[in-house]
Amino acid sequence: MKASTTTERILAVGRLMPALEQRLAAAFDVTSLAAQADPTDFLARQGADFSGLVTSAALGVDNAVIDALPNLKVISSFGVGLDRLDVRHAAARGVAVGYTPDVLNDCVADLAFGLMIDAARQISAADRYVRRGGWLQAPYPLTRKVSGARLGIVGLGRIGRVVAQRAAGFGMPIRYHSRRAVAGVAWQHEPDLLALADWADFLVVIVAGGPATRHLIDARVLQALGPQGYLVNVARGSVVDEAALLHALQTGVIAGAGLDVYQDEPQVPPAFFTLDNVVLAPHMASATRETRQAMADLTFENLAAFYATGRVKVSAV
Ligand code: DGY
Repeated sequence: MKASTTTERILAVGRLMPALEQRLAAAFDVTSLAAQADPTDFLARQGADFSGLVTSAALGVDNAVIDALPNLKVISSFGVGLDRLDVRHAAARGVAVGYTPDVLNDCVADLAFGLMIDAARQISAADRYVRRGGWLQAPYPLTRKVSGARLGIVGLGRIGRVVAQRAAGFGMPIRYHSRRAVAGVAWQHEPDLLALADWADFLVVIVAGGPATRHLIDARVLQALGPQGYLVNVARGSVVDEAALLHALQTGVIAGAGLDVYQDEPQVPPAFFTLDNVVLAPHMASATRETRQAMADLTFENLAAFYATGRVKVSAV
């Protein structure tokens, strides 16, 4: 979709995918906030000129920035997470918010499975073992089977459902935890998170971030998951109490973990680096060429649709 105008001024909060930056620059008058020597002064002088803002799930945008743009009409965010973007605040200001759900479901679910298999079958740890010549001394220790194991999914949203569909192919019994039972699905709802953790061999976390889910996975949940259990987090670092997880991995409270997200990204607590029972990925669940291109396209299309019709293509509000 083409933008209907090239005169709208768009504020980019920070750097985006180069292909998206180029497409935006060809259609709009784009200015980077991050490139300003004094962003506060810049917003005070030029904030009124911007009708659009583009950001990402990782960058988000502060309410102070939204409030410094009195003529802001639309925000387009690259990504599905909204924990760094106060959608209610934007809506109260009459600002439309577009985002990019669904196009990343497959890739995030794929990575959840990758982490699950890697944590249990120890692929990364075994790779390190082979490279350092360990195999020449002794066979690698036995690992854990994934097929047929019990899968607990924390959060049965769009991505959680795709994880469950993948798991069916692995012959895994599935239960899920969410505040309310999800209508029209065959999987068993478990309203008690501790009971789910106690039942599951693998606990995959895929809930939205933000205050409502902060430290949902705490020491008690890890205790319930137990010494045979594995935790996989492809949601947000804030959902897991990282200190409790580290302790659980160090002391055998759980068997292992696969993590794509962290409390203070891109910082990862160095204590994790010393453990072979955790697989560490750099928040890359949606980071395939195909999916990032689809996310970039939808980020652009949300803006273009807003300027053409007054509505974003996929609204977060
Ligand atoms: C998202 O879109 O929220 C992913 O976590 C990538 O940031």
